[in-house]
Amino acid sequence: MAKRSPLKNKNLLLGVTGSVAAYKAVELVRRLKDEEADVRVIMTSASLNFITPLSLELASGQKPLTGLWEGEPLAHVNLAAAADLFIVAPATANTLGKMALGIADDILTACFLAYRGKTLVAPAMNPAMYAHPAFRRNLDFLKGGLAVIEMAPEEGALACGAAGVGRMAAVEKIVEAARDALTGKDFQGRRVLVTAGPTREAIDPVRFISNRSSGRMGFALAKAAAARGADVTLVSGPAAISPPAGIGKLIRVETAAQMEKAVLAEINNAQILIMAAAPADFTPEETFGKKLAKSDKLSLKLKATHDILLEVSRRKKKPFTVGFAAETGPDTGRARQKLEKKGLDMIIFNDVTRPGAGFDCGTNAVTIIARGGDIREIPLMDKQDVANAVLDSISHLLKT
Ligand code: CTP
Repeated sequence: MAKRSPLKNKNLLLGVTGSVAAYKAVELVRRLKDEEADVRVIMTSASLNFITPLSLELASGQKPLTGLWEGEPLAHVNLAAAADLFIVAPATANTLGKMALGIADDILTACFLAYRGKTLVAPAMNPAMYAHPAFRRNLDFLKGGLAVIEMAPEEGALACGAAGVGRMAAVEKIVEAARDALTGKDFQGRRVLVTAGPTREAIDPVRFISNRSSGRMGFALAKAAAARGADVTLVSGPAAISPPAGIGKLIRVETAAQMEKAVLAEINNAQILIMAAAPADFTPEETFGKKLAKSDKLSLKLKATHDILLEVSRRKKKPFTVGFAAETGPDTGRARQKLEKKGLDMIIFNDVTRPGAGFDCGTNAVTIIARGGDIREIPLMDKQDVANAVLDSISHLLKT
């Protein structure tokens, strides 16, 4: 029996903007209708230069709205409230810019402001426009904290005569992304190894060296990955809070050496490694067998621990590897160096001196830096939401 599509009976709101690719919206509507979605089309006035509402009406079975004052009163509010998913395809620089700025001067941007939920955008434009810093800022802002997922444009010849990145993503890719967005199980079948928390390096049976990591960020990542269908193994240091439920396998460790051993034992089984833990960089050269007394003259000699990510990077078969860089300042330079040095696919930078971002609190603000240079700023939000934003970026990179 054919599998039931997650799009079946879902209300999809499709915004069409003024790009040459607007004609592809007809095919997109047809494909979404094939999966028994209910598709409501809204069009900007610029899109009317490229495609008629009638073509989209015939494909969707419903009259598209082309202006704020058409249809029932407050149509934008009702359409937004009814939508399970908002798709903007093709999405021009102008419309994306207005969405980023909160402008609502047409039916599409008004719906976006009234809507709360995931939005898929499929930019289509000239390569120079796509690369312009003003446009990048707008797109990064949308992708940062507003649950906007970009269906990145493809490379090829464009209607304007230029060649480069700017062609709207293939219709099939947009349909697939819509399915993923609605199932929320985009990590189904993926094996994810997450590390969390600090480590403890014993000085004597009662004292140890540790750090301020609470385990919250790693636990949020493990929880989010499991909720999105992943088979999660969590390697946890002695964290201040309890690990989340729904984890496939939990390995508790105490020292950096034990964390290294656990990670290396699990690594061949993982497709994604997220090193959110803060393993100690140094450990005492010797651990005293009995409690030291105050009267003991103590001079502590430390030796470096192994860098776990560096060990992983030396492996022939490596998973998609994500590291963290907690720094004391806003400069991402050291994080980028760590990305290179540790052979990472992605690094999550955060400035722990920023109020609300860092150790032992429920919120965080991070910069996601991908190998290849893609950057996403995630503003201050709950660590669980940050975790989902990180997973969105991983999911996106694994698809492209
Ligand atoms: N890390 C690791 N093994 C260690 C220490 C850190 O795998 N022994 C990982 C962390 O889990 C994190 C990344 O490396 O994902 C960066 O950790 P960080 O402490 O910021 O960097 P270090 O390499 O320790 O560099 P420095 O101490 O100079 O900041």
